[in-house]
Amino acid sequence: MIEAFWTIWQKLAAHFGTEIAALFLTVLTSAVVWPTLTWLWGKLLAARDFWTSRRRALSAVAQRQHSDGVREGQGVWTLAPIWQPENYKNNIQGARILAIANLKGGVGKTTVAANVAAHLAHDEKWRKRVLLVDLDYQGSLSSMTFPDDQSWLPPKGADSVATRALSGQIDPSMFLQSCKEAKNEPRLKVVTAHYDLAQADNRLLVEWLLNKRNQDSRNLPTKLSDLILGRAYHPNEMRYNLARLLHSEAIRDNFDLIIIDCPPRLTSGTIQALCASSHLLIPTLLDKPSGESVVSFCDQIENMKSAGLCPHLNYVGIVACRFVANTVGWRRTVTEIQDQLHLRQLKCGFSPLSLHSADGQYGQQFR
Ligand SMILES: Nc1ncnc2c1ncn2[C@@H]1O[C@H](COP(=O)(O)OP(=O)(O)O)[C@@H](O)[C@H]1O
Ligand SMILES: [Mg+2]
Repeated sequence: MIEAFWTIWQKLAAHFGTEIAALFLTVLTSAVVWPTLTWLWGKLLAARDFWTSRRRALSAVAQRQHSDGVREGQGVWTLAPIWQPENYKNNIQGARILAIANLKGGVGKTTVAANVAAHLAHDEKWRKRVLLVDLDYQGSLSSMTFPDDQSWLPPKGADSVATRALSGQIDPSMFLQSCKEAKNEPRLKVVTAHYDLAQADNRLLVEWLLNKRNQDSRNLPTKLSDLILGRAYHPNEMRYNLARLLHSEAIRDNFDLIIIDCPPRLTSGTIQALCASSHLLIPTLLDKPSGESVVSFCDQIENMKSAGLCPHLNYVGIVACRFVANTVGWRRTVTEIQDQLHLRQLKCGFSPLSLHSADGQYGQQFR
């Protein structure tokens, strides 16, 4: 090896002079040594992850000791370190991605998502190219947007598009091809979900906690450029799988607006939706338990924002669904929610959408 190097050096020095030959060999050596060191460093970090993953998983779900006893901790989703994708802040700030979420079921999330999307795509005033993403394994949004046919169901033995998207197993161009166009509305496309997503949600959580290395989907040029740029480590940062997809150039070029219908739990899908979204809308009913659920959800969102998981997420507001002005107690619920949010100094109030109430005069108070 040394002999070969010496022969090359002598030939180059004789041909180009010692200075040029030295420069040439230095560049050549660095081009080999640097990526090799980066690669080795990446392997070391991966080995460290393997040995620490059990402790990491247990500490993420651990209960916490308080002076008055043991209680549940903050939950798994704010687990550090948080590896945001490159250009995450810029991408989010330029995005129009609306998550429609609430930890309570039956409050109108899916109905609001479908209607807002259909309106923005169909109405002459808007004519927006809208992507509607169903992240609820029940597939209510998918069946709501394709009421007359079963063609949106994943083929036998295949996973739904939502599952593949959340798993990071689909590239933007394939994802685009897999979105299903709504009947009679070419501007509205839908990412459909089905029951396979329930299993995927659990799998994604466990794989992420245990730091399971995903199959490397980078092509050779990207792998090489990553090595040259010193990017040794590619952790399993599942929380941003959907963000990486929805912030990609192909998706940004094809849609003006993306609306995500979330399930009523902090699943892997909901977390990915919050990390991918620029805005959040919270539908609710105006009864007491629903009011409490809104406040508790906002607390959890604030936790995630301050942990740095989705710090750029803006509240569009809360929208009251199935609201009938003469329902007993609705005023008290509205006041309680507003007081609690005010106490927390949150910039989140009832959205003007709530003006679609039976009584416009009460609606004015929601502003
Ligand atoms: N504005 C509304 N008026 C009447 N019924 C509604 C309205 N919004 C929702 N619903 C009904 O309430 C039920 C729950 O709504 P859904 O959108 O599925 O809630 P979620 O997605 O939060 O579980 C559905 O049967 C839906 O048809
Ligand atoms: Mg729903």
